[in-house]
Amino acid sequence: MKILITGSHGMLGTDLTNLLRKKMTSPIPDEGLKVIDAPHEVLDITLEDEVSNFILKHTPDIIINCAAFTNVDKCETEREMAFKVNALGPKYIAAAAKECGARVIHISTDFVFDGNSNRPYVEEDQTNPLSEYGRTKLEGEKNIQKHCNTFLILRASWLFGHHGTNFVEKMFELAKHDKELSIVHDERGSPTYTVDLTEALWTLIKQKYEGIVHVTNEGNCSRYEWANKIFEILGYNINIHPIESSQYKRPAKVPLNSSLNCQKFTTITGIQMRPWEEALKDYLLSL
Ligand SMILES: NC(=O)c1ccc[n+]([C@@H]2O[C@H](COP(=O)([O-])OP(=O)(O)OC[C@H]3O[C@@H](n4cnc5c(N)ncnc54)[C@H](OP(=O)(O)O)[C@@H]3O)[C@@H](O)[C@H]2O)c1
Repeated sequence: MKILITGSHGMLGTDLTNLLRKKMTSPIPDEGLKVIDAPHEVLDITLEDEVSNFILKHTPDIIINCAAFTNVDKCETEREMAFKVNALGPKYIAAAAKECGARVIHISTDFVFDGNSNRPYVEEDQTNPLSEYGRTKLEGEKNIQKHCNTFLILRASWLFGHHGTNFVEKMFELAKHDKELSIVHDERGSPTYTVDLTEALWTLIKQKYEGIVHVTNEGNCSRYEWANKIFEILGYNINIHPIESSQYKRPAKVPLNSSLNCQKFTTITGIQMRPWEEALKDYLLSL
């Protein structure tokens, strides 16, 4: 099984590449597993001919697209680039995959929803993105569905990990200088550790599941609750003031409740993702 990973130096891409390399070299290696990592500097997914040539040259069995323009606020001002990376890139990947018979695994986001639901979103719920990031990611999903034969779209949310900027790291940095913080309390989601997500993804790969699946760590919280848990685990004495999202001005409009229901993932795999608090503890203790 030859697996090509785009955006392989990003937060999720790095953990995924590391996991698959570990599987290749473990005492009981996964037979025939080969990883081709394609970071941004090796493959720019917005260049149609390069994407096609690269994929047809390597003829992977599976392409995992971890490349994306993920700065949600910047997507508002750099709309053309956001569209190229998040919508057109997946289209080029899908078309080349179809040509060489590869399966595509595309990573998407909770931000395809508008956040007005009073329960966690299931895969079949109506999408209605509020931001350019969400809109371009949704276009990417549609392009994958339209242009390739076999695909898995994995929607994740609120990622944290060792290899990229994320909320946990930001809290950690802020706490070095500020003992008082104001954090939004009316925005809810499911924090998800990239290490856990890559293990879940590997299970889905082996099961050859096709379609759309939500995968996050179990449970959900507000940003305020998340920050409190971070400092509780770290043993930091930080005074956190809950504020409304309307008081936190930012260019992009974000969903208020973007937590995802992962029952479908559990039904397919028999796996229950561990609670986000446990994953967070592991992550913080490994820093
Ligand atoms: N982070 C989250 O909270 C979150 C939540 C839900 C879903 N997701 C989804 O999860 C996936 C992985 O996200 P992440 O957090 O790992 O993001 P990330 O750390 O920003 O990684 C994205 C990678 O894509 C690369 N990239 C950007 N433009 C590219 C291009 N034109 N061609 C090739 N590569 C390009 C980036 O390279 P450069 O750094 O060189 O630009 C980076 O290495 C994305 O699909 C994202 O939408 C993320």
